[in-house]
Amino acid sequence: MLNVKLHHLSFSTDQRDQMIEFYRDQMGMTEIEEVGGDVVLRAKNRIMHFVDGPKNRLNYAAYGAPDQNVLDELRQKHETAGVTLSPSPSPVFGEDAYAITDPDGNQMVFGVYSEMADDQSMAGRMQHVVVASTQVEAMIAFYSDKVGFAVTDIVRKDDGVITSCFMRSNNEHHSFAVFLGETAKLDHNCYESSSWNDIRDWADHFSDSEITIFWGPGRHGPGNNLFIMVRDPDGNPVEISAEIEQVPEDRETGNWEHNPRTLNYWGKGMQRVE
Ligand SMILES: [Fe+2]
Repeated sequence: MLNVKLHHLSFSTDQRDQMIEFYRDQMGMTEIEEVGGDVVLRAKNRIMHFVDGPKNRLNYAAYGAPDQNVLDELRQKHETAGVTLSPSPSPVFGEDAYAITDPDGNQMVFGVYSEMADDQSMAGRMQHVVVASTQVEAMIAFYSDKVGFAVTDIVRKDDGVITSCFMRSNNEHHSFAVFLGETAKLDHNCYESSSWNDIRDWADHFSDSEITIFWGPGRHGPGNNLFIMVRDPDGNPVEISAEIEQVPEDRETGNWEHNPRTLNYWGKGMQRVE
């Protein structure tokens, strides 16, 4: 089992100023630095790196190991699995970090994380990222067989087509997921808060800027987490979550039916495909 967690994300965008404004003012990432023309925004436990390019694309997702030994073991595992390693594009991780590229061209970066000092930002640590793909099975094979993520839950249509696959890299239900979509793109990014009351506070906070919740409040089937979702200026869903399921290491993969209730016990599902 891997022992890494999602540490920071990089999206490409064709309206960087608007995205910076949203993630600064709405997501509270107020520590801002320019790195070689790119912009990195930070708050405690959430860091975002914007690069110029097409919107709705994951530039990379950076997963952090707690120490150098864990990272060294991971690198060895990836080399043994025949994964091509490339230099890390992250200005956040150190020189030991490296990148791999999945079948859709998304980059995953692995490095050693360091915690940021406490600040006054609202509770919400970067917890998972989801991409859409037209080749879900190839993506699952890559992430489970080569990268080493464990498959926690799979959602299938009646005809057996996989519509969602939730994968974990530590004991949390998922830190990464792939959804079936019409194109390869970024689906959403999620921040785990500490309680249901935090979700209330986030909703009030978004309300101050007249940003409306477009999905939720609800409770997901896979992951069992409470959630609300808003959209950033590029239209990427941003999820605030609480109570995500903790999963024992030997948990067998769960199977779910593709229906609205699977995505949301409390109300409407938001199915990406019918
Ligand atoms: Fe999510």
